[in-house]
Amino acid sequence: MPVSALGYVVARTRDLSDWGSFGPDLLGLQRIDKSRNSLAFRMDDRKQRIVVDAQDGNGGDEGISVFGWEVADAAALDALAAKLESNGVKVTRGARALADERFVRDLIVFSDPLGNRLEAFHGAETASEPFVPGRSMSGFRTGPLGLGHVVLNVETSETIQRLLPFYRDLLGFRLTDYYSHPFEAYFMHVNPRHHSLAMIRTGKNAVHHIMMEVFSLDDMGQGYDIAQRDGRVATTMGRHTSDFITSFYTFTPSGFMVEYGWGARSIDPETWQAYERKEGPSMWGHDRAWLPPEQQEAARNLRLDNAAKGLRRPVQVMDGNFNRMSGVCPWWDGMKDRRPFG
Ligand SMILES: [Fe+2]
Repeated sequence: MPVSALGYVVARTRDLSDWGSFGPDLLGLQRIDKSRNSLAFRMDDRKQRIVVDAQDGNGGDEGISVFGWEVADAAALDALAAKLESNGVKVTRGARALADERFVRDLIVFSDPLGNRLEAFHGAETASEPFVPGRSMSGFRTGPLGLGHVVLNVETSETIQRLLPFYRDLLGFRLTDYYSHPFEAYFMHVNPRHHSLAMIRTGKNAVHHIMMEVFSLDDMGQGYDIAQRDGRVATTMGRHTSDFITSFYTFTPSGFMVEYGWGARSIDPETWQAYERKEGPSMWGHDRAWLPPEQQEAARNLRLDNAAKGLRRPVQVMDGNFNRMSGVCPWWDGMKDRRPFG
C-alpha cells in the first residue's frame, strides 16, 4: 500500500487570528507561530501537523490547499512517483526548501483529478520538546493512523467515479464501505483507521471536514462545551455508524468543519471486505443545523428507524481510558450476545 496515512494539511483562512485561538482553546492543538501570515499546529510528537496560511481578501477559496499523504520511505516515494508518471500524472519533486518548510525528508507534488494539490512525503521530523496541548486535555490519537481523516464534498457522481480509481489504483487506498442514501458516500482506508479519506456527493467541490480523535471521552465533551459557549457547534454530538466514533462538528475559520471525536474503531485492512452500508451516517445525534428542515427531519427519521431496530455498538476503548465494572448481570450477559444489524 503506497500511502500509509494522512500526514499533514495546509489550510487557508481570511481570519488567521481566529485560528490562533480556535486551534489551541477549542481543539487543544499546540500553536507554533511561523510568520505574520502563517501559523502551524502540533498535535503529537511531530513538528507540525496543520499549517494555516492567511488568505488575502482578493478572492481565492478558503479550505485546504495541500493534503500531505505519508509513505513509508524513500523507495516507496520513488515507486509512487514512477507509478503516477506512468499513468500520465504530472509529478514534481519537492525542492529542499519545501521539504524544510514541511519538516519532512523528501516529497513529491501532484494533483488529483479535481485539481486538489497533493503532496506525498516520507521522513517527518519529530520535535525534541514534548507536545503541550493548547488546553488541558490528554492528546490526539495519531501515530500510524495519521492525523485523522478528510472528507471531500464532491459535486457529481461522475466526479466521484473519476476520483475513486485515482485514489484506489494509483495511491493504494482501499474501499471500506459506501452508501447511496441519504446521499452518495464512499469511505476509503490506508491503515486501521476506518477511513482516512471519504467523498460525499453534495453538489459542490470543497472540503467538508477533517477529523481529529482525542484519547479521552471527556476531552471531546469538554471541547463540546467550549464550542457551545462560542457558538461554533456545526453538528451536535452523535455517533457514526461507520467508525463508531462519538463526535461533534465545529466550524473552523477556513470554511470547512472539524469533526472532533473519541473512540473510533480500528479495522484490519488485511481481512476487511467492502460493503454497502444501509443505516445512514449516524446511530444517534449529529443533527446538522445547516440543513433545510425537511432534510434534517429525514435524517432524524433515519436515526429513529435505526434506534427502533436496536442499532447499538460497543464503545471502542484503549487501555487506560476505561474501567471494567465489577459484578455480573445475567440480563446484560444474555442481551449483549444478540447482534441486531449483524
Ligand atoms: Fe468524519
